[in-house]
Amino acid sequence: MADNYFQVDKINVKYGDIQVLWDVSFEAAKGEIIALVGSNGAGKSTSVKAASGLVKTCGGRIVFDGQEITGGNCRSFIDHGIILCPEGRQLFPQMTVLENLEMGACSKEAEAKKKDTIEKIYTWFPKLKERAKQMAGTLSGGEQQMVAFSRGMMGLPKLLLMDEPSLGLAPTIVDDIFRIAKRVSQESGLTIVLVEQDVRKALKLANRGYVLENGVINIQGTAQELLNNEEVKKAYLGI
Ligand SMILES: Nc1ncnc2c1ncn2[C@@H]1O[C@H](COP(=O)(O)OP(=O)(O)O)[C@@H](O)[C@H]1O
Ligand SMILES: [Mg+2]
Repeated sequence: MADNYFQVDKINVKYGDIQVLWDVSFEAAKGEIIALVGSNGAGKSTSVKAASGLVKTCGGRIVFDGQEITGGNCRSFIDHGIILCPEGRQLFPQMTVLENLEMGACSKEAEAKKKDTIEKIYTWFPKLKERAKQMAGTLSGGEQQMVAFSRGMMGLPKLLLMDEPSLGLAPTIVDDIFRIAKRVSQESGLTIVLVEQDVRKALKLANRGYVLENGVINIQGTAQELLNNEEVKKAYLGI
């Protein structure tokens, strides 16, 4: 069980009058990778947006590293080291790879360490070094996802939330990015919340997972438990 390093406890989210999350809870230990999986429209993006201060919660608590941060905005979440790599990558297409990376250095500390972080990123993804001066909009989908992940890492996150990094990408590229994410997590204690529709891939990377259905967490367990769960198999693994 997680040690509550990061704890989302019974949050509710409404868009206008329409409630889309009901008492959603998930937690991660320091350095742990957890997966939030579920079908389209289940509330995965809303969950990670709430967990990174981008949408307001009503009811419930968010606790990070011993501090309650419920009700903060995305700036205050960033200041705690919580960074979201949004769905659809959201790069600046008319800016170069390097400029996109630099945009990720979103705190004083990150700004001060920018050069070192970029060098580290280039060792993870040598292709980004080759393409440093290329407009991000002209990269392949896989390269854009490398930039999106790396831009998140430029902010020196303690907690990185990744929303559907595999969307539309060739499996080998996803494997490359996940391998780096796992290595960084193991080496530096980075905690990762991974949102995925590709349930098999997500559960291969994560220690534990949560299944979100219509705004409610219905199943949770270790990755192995979920992979063996009959409902998960039928609904998400096509077995
Ligand atoms: N900005 C928004 N305004 C109104 N409804 C939204 C908004 N964003 C998402 N929703 C609704 O909330 C529900 C959950 O969406 P989302 O969190 O994007 O799901 P997922 O990421 O699992 O596909 C959906 O019914 C969606 O239509
Ligand atoms: Mg989504």
